[in-house]
Amino acid sequence: MSKSFKRYLITSALPYANGPVHIGHLAGVYIPSDIYTRYLRMRGYDVISVCGSDEHGVPITLKARKEGVTPQQIVDRYHEIIKKSFEGLGIAFDIYSRTSSATHSKTASDFFRKLYDEGKFIEKTSEQYYDEQAQTFLADRYIVGTCPKCGNEGAYGDQCEKCGSTLSPDELINPHSAVSGSVPVKRATKHWYLPLDQYEEFLREWILEGHKEWKSNVYGQCKSWLDGGLQPRAVSRDLDWGIPVPVKGAEGKVLYVWFDAPIGYISATKDLTPDWEKYWKSEDTKMVHFIGKDNIVFHCIVFPAMLKAHGGYILPENVPANEFLNLEGDKISTSRNWAVWLHEYLEDFPGKQDVLRYVLCANAPETKDNDFTWKDFQARNNNELVAILGNFVNRALVLTHKYFDGVIPACGELTDYDRQTLSELAGTKEALSSNIENYRFREALKEAMNVARIGNKYLADTEPWKLIKSDPERVKTILNIALQITANLSVAIEPFMPFTAAKIVKMLQAGPFKWDDLGRTDLIPAGHQIGEATLLFEKIEDDVIQRQLDKLEATKQANAAANTSQNIENQKESVSFDDFQKMDIRVSKILAAEKVAKTKKLLKLTVDTGIDTREIVSGIAEHYTPEELVGKEVLVLVNLEPRELKGILSRGMILMAEDPTGKLRLLRPEEAMTPGSIVG
Ligand code: MF3
Ligand code: ZN
Repeated sequence: MSKSFKRYLITSALPYANGPVHIGHLAGVYIPSDIYTRYLRMRGYDVISVCGSDEHGVPITLKARKEGVTPQQIVDRYHEIIKKSFEGLGIAFDIYSRTSSATHSKTASDFFRKLYDEGKFIEKTSEQYYDEQAQTFLADRYIVGTCPKCGNEGAYGDQCEKCGSTLSPDELINPHSAVSGSVPVKRATKHWYLPLDQYEEFLREWILEGHKEWKSNVYGQCKSWLDGGLQPRAVSRDLDWGIPVPVKGAEGKVLYVWFDAPIGYISATKDLTPDWEKYWKSEDTKMVHFIGKDNIVFHCIVFPAMLKAHGGYILPENVPANEFLNLEGDKISTSRNWAVWLHEYLEDFPGKQDVLRYVLCANAPETKDNDFTWKDFQARNNNELVAILGNFVNRALVLTHKYFDGVIPACGELTDYDRQTLSELAGTKEALSSNIENYRFREALKEAMNVARIGNKYLADTEPWKLIKSDPERVKTILNIALQITANLSVAIEPFMPFTAAKIVKMLQAGPFKWDDLGRTDLIPAGHQIGEATLLFEKIEDDVIQRQLDKLEATKQANAAANTSQNIENQKESVSFDDFQKMDIRVSKILAAEKVAKTKKLLKLTVDTGIDTREIVSGIAEHYTPEELVGKEVLVLVNLEPRELKGILSRGMILMAEDPTGKLRLLRPEEAMTPGSIVG
């Protein structure tokens, strides 16, 4: 696709305002979009980057309910945190808007209304779960029950978070309402559907034929959706939080969050500029959606179908979705608090925004899921940012101060080695640009860092500190070249590490530079006075990393404790006192114990029940060794029907307790008691 465009519209997935932003969001969406945007701006293009908070949807109402506050309070809280933390990291949106704004409400409402008026929706009545006690329809997320696949009793109507299965409410065993706890009933309700099947032809043509250049993970997902056949999708919900469906007789219904949220890109542009239409309605605008892989279907299939149905809007040129980032080997999760939160990072590592930006880009999940570890974070900081980038810039500047009082010396005659170095530098711009334009940000970052490597190697090979006495003229040339490389470096890293680029420019007292300056060797003239040299990066010590690991460990333990208490089984049905009295439980003494051959779990115990000496087969071999058991007093249900197990007649049951993790422990009298003593 070598179409040429006059302007760019960059969108970044609107984060849900039900929690803060974490490193997974950053690596997947916001860092790539920021690199791309900064690059385009440096080229001098007309570009805007829009984002905002996604403030509707069930997760927000669930969170509000859990905390006993209103959804508005939840979104107000997280909108502020998210907005501030993006600013803190230098994510340079032109606008960070929100979907609870008046502009958005009107834009989304008008959008729906136009499609409605033109008969683009199907109206359909269907049976949905309804909570009679709370008098409300229940979104899939509001229905809780037992997962048919793994037995988790806290599975949601759309998903089991324990085993990861996608579910529908009908599959849940013993479904009940998360709102009132009551058992929901089915009730008829009317909704509007976008008949995606009618857009299949158009989508096939546009994506499968027209956009073969899309990333293979994106193209592949689109293809499999399209090959599977598209179904009409409901664009309204029975909920009280959201944008009301602007139709008579639709009381209590709101737009489905995935209908309104992408329209948020349009509303944000409107809030940014009165000239918004040129970005949305002109074929010479290139629109690019930055998203994570869980958003592909909405941005490649649903939203384009909506735009097509509406008419007058452009479609995205590309949707460079990333895969997921894991944290220390585990899936990042807002609800399990398994994340590195951006606002906390900014507090814990003041002034180190670029370290995080660097590590997340260097390790971005561009083609497959990737793992963030604190050890890798430390290693990349210490071995790459400090040892290569920081070291080179510092040497170039410090030597210039030391030998020439901070005045840039003139460049004399070039050696072959100088020329070779400068020609390597000249190749950077092309390689860097083409990688960024093709959304290969990791490769691009390597190219940018390569400028620092070139500089480092140049100083190491030319050793000006050895020549300053014998050949000061040569040293002038060497440092002039080193400083030109430094200036180039500031340009090359700007999209990735804007804070560091600004520091270098400040130290050089030069600039501002443009992208086209890359590769030039006359960026700062001889005779120019540079500023003070300060360190760009500092080593991160083990104790700092350990503190982060400890924080994660604490989360892990808190989760384990919460999980355990969640798995406590419900109380069983009542039994009468008489029924209970039927059980004959006696203190008994274990006389002998041995493993039952060819089994893992069974032990044969010989016990003195006070009434007789008998054999009992018990499934405790994985919890106690035979030696541990001999001589112990335990409780035995002696009138349990005898049963033959592995050829042994087992007469009775040893009483034990099992905790939610499956651990077994014997129940025993508090002090020695005569065998045969009755329990009851
Ligand atoms: N809030 C969604 C998520 O975090 C993304 C919405 S993107 C938009 O997955 F296009 F709908 F805005
Ligand atoms: Zn499950």
